Amino acid sequence: MNRDNSAIEAQQMKIRRTITIVSIVVQLFGVVYHTAAQDIPALKDVFKNDFLIGGALNRWVVTGRDTKAAAITKKHFNTATAENDMKWQSINRSPGRYNWEAADNFVDFCEKNRISIIGHCLVWHSQVPRWVFRDNAGDALTRDALLARMKDHIMTVVGRYKGRIKGWDVVNEALNENGTLRNSQWLRIIGEGSEEKQYDFIENAFRWAHKADPNAELYYNDYGLETSKAKCDGAVEIVEHLKSKGIRIDGVGIQLHDSLDRPVADGLEYAITSLASTGVKVMITELDVRTRTRGYRGADVGRTNRRNTRDTNADDAETQEKLADKYTEIFSVLLEHKEDIDRVTFWGVYDGASWIGGSPLLFDRDYRPKDAFFGVVETAEKYR
Ligand code: XIL
Repeated sequence: MNRDNSAIEAQQMKIRRTITIVSIVVQLFGVVYHTAAQDIPALKDVFKNDFLIGGALNRWVVTGRDTKAAAITKKHFNTATAENDMKWQSINRSPGRYNWEAADNFVDFCEKNRISIIGHCLVWHSQVPRWVFRDNAGDALTRDALLARMKDHIMTVVGRYKGRIKGWDVVNEALNENGTLRNSQWLRIIGEGSEEKQYDFIENAFRWAHKADPNAELYYNDYGLETSKAKCDGAVEIVEHLKSKGIRIDGVGIQLHDSLDRPVADGLEYAITSLASTGVKVMITELDVRTRTRGYRGADVGRTNRRNTRDTNADDAETQEKLADKYTEIFSVLLEHKEDIDRVTFWGVYDGASWIGGSPLLFDRDYRPKDAFFGVVETAEKYR
């Protein structure tokens, strides 16, 4: 009996010792790792001679509930975009009622941390309430009534933050893949099916945004400009149209929601060079790389199903290596064309907060820099 007990005790002691050793090793690794993590260069410094670097921020970041994401933001970004909190649906959910709290928190956070603020977005077919397009009886608004409503919204929102916003995404995602204008309610109601009036909603949105804040930069923003030449050409037409009317437009945002399994360099070069040739700034506004290998992989919010976005393979070493290669490919093109690129904004701060799930960003779910982060930094060093 006694001998048995002491054998068990010895065994338990051995296990405890093993656990202690392992935990010391893990803690040591943690200390080393943590020091290394603190030593990583700040992205905004790495690219200080090239372009601004930013991220899309959610409420948790700007209100201090996600302190680790806030720390990454403060260290690495000198520009930021509100992921959702300046959209029509967030600010003006019902007629005449404005809720500024979340947008104000975002703007205050950025100002406190000297981060240049991008307003996103004023006119979009998505995340806009249904009432916007209907009268009190529930019928579709007339062209004039919708123009008046759009003007009121833009003057109110842009006016509130006048002088504090570097630039606004005035019109978001107005194009189809083939370069024609998307059949949105904005186009249908304000364009009235007439070719001469098709750009009217875009023209007016830019005019009023300029009126509300004459010093703010004004942008057109869209996805897929790097995958469809026709769509990119459509964006060039929008810029040329606005310029031909003497309307201010400062830049075009290439969202760049990319995917691991398709090459991007050629299409991205085409988009940067053709947009820059119109004389506007080019920006990468929503950068991420989808790692999931199943289901819809595009950037159309209407087709992105958040519930299906988990990909159990997304964090394996092979995927992370591919992701690093992909980011290296993207940043090589951006640095090659840095004269034309004004800003690069990631769509999220770290993987745990991404709208598409998987592992599309430079920091993992534990807020640690990934191979992709180091790939980006090394690419920058090659261009020094
Ligand atoms: C996304 C947000 O990240 C999600 O949280 C939200 O549920 C849907 O919208 N193009 C855009 C962004 O211009 O506003 C979208 O953001 C992603 C696609």
